[in-house]
Amino acid sequence: MKILAIETSCDETAISVVDGSGEITNPSFSVLSHLISSQVELHAKWGGVVPALAKREHAKNIIPLLDQALTESGLKKEGQTNITDKQKKEIAEIFTHEENLPEELVKFAEGITIPDIDAIAVTYGPGLEPALWVGVNLAKALEIIWQKKLVPINHMEGHIASPLLGNDERVEFPALALLVSGGHTELVLCEDWFDYKIIGQTRDDAVGEAFDKVARILDLPYPGGPQISTLALKAKPGGSIKLPRPMLHSDDYDFSFSGLKTAVLYAVRDKDLSENDKAEMAREFQEAVVEVLLKKTFKAISNYDIKSLIIGGGVIANEALRAGILKERDSNFTQLKIFLPESPVITDNATMIAIAAYLRLKAHQEKSSENLRAIGNLRIDQV
Ligand code: KG4
Ligand code: ZN
Repeated sequence: MKILAIETSCDETAISVVDGSGEITNPSFSVLSHLISSQVELHAKWGGVVPALAKREHAKNIIPLLDQALTESGLKKEGQTNITDKQKKEIAEIFTHEENLPEELVKFAEGITIPDIDAIAVTYGPGLEPALWVGVNLAKALEIIWQKKLVPINHMEGHIASPLLGNDERVEFPALALLVSGGHTELVLCEDWFDYKIIGQTRDDAVGEAFDKVARILDLPYPGGPQISTLALKAKPGGSIKLPRPMLHSDDYDFSFSGLKTAVLYAVRDKDLSENDKAEMAREFQEAVVEVLLKKTFKAISNYDIKSLIIGGGVIANEALRAGILKERDSNFTQLKIFLPESPVITDNATMIAIAAYLRLKAHQEKSSENLRAIGNLRIDQV
């Protein structure tokens, strides 16, 4: 089953074509095209993502990216697709804010045959609403032109599905998903696929956001996660900086990272930091984050008798976090199955959106595309 997936929730314009096969308990995926047009450099100038700029860049890049994805996957065939005046009018009405897109899209689609895909998947939330709309609108227009099924997907469900790429292990339930990204820090109990209950979450900053903010305090460029983890490796052993472990012993599964960021701010304020001081701060910050994430995650694993731990979101690129999780499993939870995404599906991408759509289609659990709209604050238990 071939799925074309579109993802524009933040600062990456991403399109993938994925061929899925097998049952939901044992699926396998072949990636025919995996494209990401990153806007990181543009936003780095501002120290973070600017929604209006993100939207503009998505609108500029998305049709060329679609063209490239279809070409790369061998699905682009020169030819003709007839688009009626009625369809053109519907398409123009979809794109109320991106005036150039309907014309560009119609021209592109008229010059090729209808591609041999089974469905179109699109991220409809959570994320930056103006950015999300670009992908949602393109997907709606393609649904009209190609008459293919449109499957709306929750971005965080995409992250949950991401470790299935290239993985033969079966997920056993109950499973726990730890979601760690720029906008989310959540522990989600999954009794089965698509059955999600948030049991813990951050009370303030998301963990990726904390990495990005601490990086900024240390004069490192955006996005800060990879910068901090690289710098942390350079710290000499035996450092003396000590940061708090917020909510480590609280009687719940919640997190808080904003105080940790403030502690870093106070510790470095008005100080002339040496390179080793900075590296030491990065290492201690990372250690504090990993310690609280591990503590709450494994507490939930014990208390809910969890069989599989699934981790998703950009922060799981962090080697210290990956190593910490595997070490704890090997020491105290040897029966636990662990599902970690591998590059290139760790940070935002469209392949994971296609994988989630495949699971939903196989289970006949896809959300209707009727009246589809972008929802910036969509929750995982709300799909
Ligand atoms: O999932 P993602 O690509 O986008 C969102 O959905 O937010 O996650 C991006 C976040 C950023 O905050 C980034 O700094 C963080 O993931 N990140 C990392 C690392 N690589 C990316 N955080 C810590 N260590 C890393 N190696
Ligand atoms: Zn993400």
